[in-house]
Amino acid sequence: MQSRGEEVLKTAAITKIYPDGTQALRGVDFDLARGEVHGLLGENGAGKTTLSKILSGILRPTSGDVFVNGKKAEVRHPKEALKLGVGMVHQHFTLVRNFTAFENILLGTDVNPKGAGASKARQEILALSKDVGLGVELDAKVEDLALGAQQRVELLKMLYRKVQILILDEPTSSLTAPETVDLFKAVRRLKEEGKSAIFITHKLNEVLEICDRITVLRHGEVSGRIEAANADTKTLARMMVGRDVVFDLVKEPSHAGDPILEVSDLVVRGNRGEDAVKGVSFAVRRGEIFGIAGVEGNGQTELEEALSGVRRPSRGKIKLGGLEISSLSNNEIRKHSVGLIPEDRRQMGLILDMSVAENSILGREWERRFRGQGIALAWAKVKDHASRLIRSFEILVKGPDSPAKSMSGGNQQKVVVSRELTDDPDFVLAAQPTRGLDVAASDYIRRLLLKTRDSGKGVLVISADLDEVLQLSDVIGVMYEGKLLEVGPTEKMTRHKVGMLMGGVKE
Ligand SMILES: Nc1ncnc2c1ncn2[C@@H]1O[C@H](COP(=O)(O)OP(=O)(O)OP(=O)(O)O)[C@@H](O)[C@H]1O
Ligand SMILES: [Mg+2]
Repeated sequence: MQSRGEEVLKTAAITKIYPDGTQALRGVDFDLARGEVHGLLGENGAGKTTLSKILSGILRPTSGDVFVNGKKAEVRHPKEALKLGVGMVHQHFTLVRNFTAFENILLGTDVNPKGAGASKARQEILALSKDVGLGVELDAKVEDLALGAQQRVELLKMLYRKVQILILDEPTSSLTAPETVDLFKAVRRLKEEGKSAIFITHKLNEVLEICDRITVLRHGEVSGRIEAANADTKTLARMMVGRDVVFDLVKEPSHAGDPILEVSDLVVRGNRGEDAVKGVSFAVRRGEIFGIAGVEGNGQTELEEALSGVRRPSRGKIKLGGLEISSLSNNEIRKHSVGLIPEDRRQMGLILDMSVAENSILGREWERRFRGQGIALAWAKVKDHASRLIRSFEILVKGPDSPAKSMSGGNQQKVVVSRELTDDPDFVLAAQPTRGLDVAASDYIRRLLLKTRDSGKGVLVISADLDEVLQLSDVIGVMYEGKLLEVGPTEKMTRHKVGMLMGGVKE
């Protein structure tokens, strides 16, 4: 075993009780060495983000101490944490969307992006980004950047502030495979410079690849700690969940029927006015899962938005059960027994300030079953519905009245997925359905999608996770630069072939 550097960060008996009484952490001892990448694992709601927020000064612990470089530290504010060299890249980005990357990186520093120090700052940032191998278009608006690029901005923002300890909360959940490779290279380079990182992920292979040591949280307690060299995915899953997790999904042969969704010659413009979807045609049949693989940013988002009525196509047809829907709104489409799991749940799927109960009927408020006499919502019925979802999907939340923002990232996701799958829809569009979900919850959602298909419904899965597409789909289409490069039955679409197609290579 390699010898570890000196301790740069330590916590002693950290507890956190949120104002609503939720106990998120129970006596957590954690330590981090110089030059170490320390993985933090745990189920959705285990307390990973809460601990990270305490270390980075966003939250105060209820009790317990934090030590930085051997000294007891009072981190009352992110600025104080940054002074101590501790910075966090958030699970859900905190960038200002209509500012440029450059403006975002400088935000909160005393350099004015249009002032005297700006060109020096620009040089420094460019040098940093070259150093660690993370390129960004500094003058692009954040809202026009792909998620991977947004994350590079967040990372540069921290590096520009000279952090020594970097907390990365699910940094790879929206990265493509090549972007993940680049991020890992950057992390290794930072390690060589003697910096340390706390690395949070639900992807067990990643944790084994990049981490030196791994700490597992379970219900707010440390349930185990292990050297990565001595760990494997099975052991880690068991440490997280407290029992063995079976990973193999049983898939019955499909019995595909008539098409339920027919897309022909669809053209959709992106935010910059360019054609992001360039004449795509395909059909999803009942009793079948059609999977669209592809590196993110190749038109999948725009396709998803056009299919769900939030972006009007500039050409082509979308038919659902024979009905032309390309000019219908999102709400109108939902009335046709459709489940829509959007890629960007926090922008499109949830209203964070509203309660879980309100969110559990979002887009379905008009349905009779949630109404009393007249037009008023019957709150008792809405809460009942929410409580049922909470129970059957094991959503971790105090109750239906809690605000959505009080849930962990993965549990927010479960609210959207449960809402969209629960009413037995005829057609489901699932974009990145398991992003941010722990191994057990991902498995559960995948089983549900298969069940939906087995009951004769049509399912379209759009996912950047190649394993997920290969595992679930009966038919696979690969999207590249706005086009479906090739479509074929899963038996004919090998991992190698799909991988090549994702890179634009047609053999
Ligand atoms: N603002 C809040 N108010 C009340 N409870 C909260 C709040 N934020 C988080 N919690 C609760 O604290 C617990 C830990 O949440 P946390 O976000 O730390 O989990 P996590 O391990 O990061 O999960 P995930 O993998 O889903 O991101 C959960 O039970 C969550 O519901
Ligand atoms: Mg989290």
